[in-house]
Amino acid sequence: MLVDSFGRNITYLRISVTDRCNLRCRYCMPQGGISYKVPAEILSFEEICRIARAASCLGVRKLRITGGEPLVRKDLSLLVRELRSIREIDEIALTTNGIYLSEYARELKEAGLDRVNVSLDSLVEDKFEKITRGGKLASVLKGIDALFAARLAPVRINTVLLKGFNDDEIMSFAQLTRTDPIDARFIEHMPTRLGHGACGDDQFFSAREAKEICGRLGRLIPVDRGSRSTARAYRIDGFYGTVGFISPITEPFCRSCDKLRLTSDGVLKSCLHLPHGIDIKEAMRGGATDEDLGRLIEKAVASKPRAHNLLTMPLGRNSENFSMCQIGG
Ligand code: 5AD
Ligand code: SF4
Repeated sequence: MLVDSFGRNITYLRISVTDRCNLRCRYCMPQGGISYKVPAEILSFEEICRIARAASCLGVRKLRITGGEPLVRKDLSLLVRELRSIREIDEIALTTNGIYLSEYARELKEAGLDRVNVSLDSLVEDKFEKITRGGKLASVLKGIDALFAARLAPVRINTVLLKGFNDDEIMSFAQLTRTDPIDARFIEHMPTRLGHGACGDDQFFSAREAKEICGRLGRLIPVDRGSRSTARAYRIDGFYGTVGFISPITEPFCRSCDKLRLTSDGVLKSCLHLPHGIDIKEAMRGGATDEDLGRLIEKAVASKPRAHNLLTMPLGRNSENFSMCQIGG
């Protein structure tokens, strides 16, 4: 078992497979993109699987594939298939912006993918294009349909709340859950240095306010997702899907955090907001044994901080000198 210094049991590994993305969301990336890692620095599928296997031996049960945009990585379903063969793993999920989903939903399902989160910040075509700097909403909607067709439902839709941008669409997102197996999740925006030029404090919109808006559609019935879940989920009375609220800022969930992260260039990070991590790639390429890898994973878990420092440090002086796309949210 992987238990950190604060008694949290770590069972969830998020794996970023690339730092590249086919969109340029304003709150995530500067216009020109970020400087990408060179291919040699990026973990191969074999290396990723070796780390996932070592982590599963220590108690990791759930994997999530993230990016950047994971579907820009060639042959991603081969990785899914390989990860699926690890006996201890109960669930493999994917977080994507959905642009390429219609192309890959089926083969991902066949490879053994269990569920998909689609990041989607607007349901209005030109607003979507604006926030993503050029993305096509129609592609994402087609991707979501492809998930239904591939029996990859329920589909989770993650929306980052931005005041003055999409707070007027909260109802529309909630409405998606009326007749479809969709779980709409509203996420508070977290300040990061690389993205913050496009989203200041004045654009912060709390999950509590989003919940209040959803409540106007009907009674909110709590859905038990287990104490580990970062989202507080509800079913609007009479609706098919659920709505959920993720409040990293107003109600941090660090106390129940069960996550470990692996960056695309092979650094283990025990917290999204820590500037440093443990370079497991370097060890692996230097000839580390499986036992050595296990020890590095344990070391990363032991370094997991009690909580993030988003609220205690002024923006720009905290550790948030990264873009979410480098770590995968
Ligand atoms: N705050 C909250 N969520 C963010 N994401 C990207 N940047 C931020 C941020 N600063 C989300 C994306 C996607 C996931 C990978 O992380 O919208 O849903
Ligand atoms: Fe947008 Fe996600 Fe790509 Fe960042 S990584 S630009 S949030 S789609």
